Amino acid sequence: MKRVLVLNGPNLNLLGTREPEVYGSVTLAEIEGELVSLAEELGVQVSFVQSNHEGELIDAIHRAADDADGIVVNPGAFTHYSYALRDALLAVGVPAVEVHLSNIHAREDFRSVSVTAPACIGLIAGFGAQSYALGLRAVVSAMKEAAS
Ligand code: DQA
Repeated sequence: MKRVLVLNGPNLNLLGTREPEVYGSVTLAEIEGELVSLAEELGVQVSFVQSNHEGELIDAIHRAADDADGIVVNPGAFTHYSYALRDALLAVGVPAVEVHLSNIHAREDFRSVSVTAPACIGLIAGFGAQSYALGLRAVVSAMKEAAS
């Protein structure tokens, strides 16, 4: 069975209580629970890593080279400045879809730049917790296309 890693960066462990007017009131555990059900429906296996530390996210991306066929990644604020995460995604070459709960283009100027998105197949932003489900569907469809 194909495997998808869902990777979450800094402060996303606080979803549910963190700026609910921006990010909603759904917790990360609830999002992950929904993704497990959706993964079953799509016939893939899903695993989860959340870290507030750049190096741990990089290590998880490196492991994905052996352990995953696709990645859904919300790099949090690292989106806007982590060339190291971008390089890690490029280095492993596992197809990745970047997701954001908020529309990063409708907020502060610094958020409208994603340095990690160019290392991904595409980007989904602005659909709240649903961005993750859309991201999982997108990466699975890309994986299937690549395999056919
Ligand atoms: C975010 C957007 C980022 O700008 C912010 O730093 C986050 C969350 C989102 O999902 O909307 O931590 O990635």
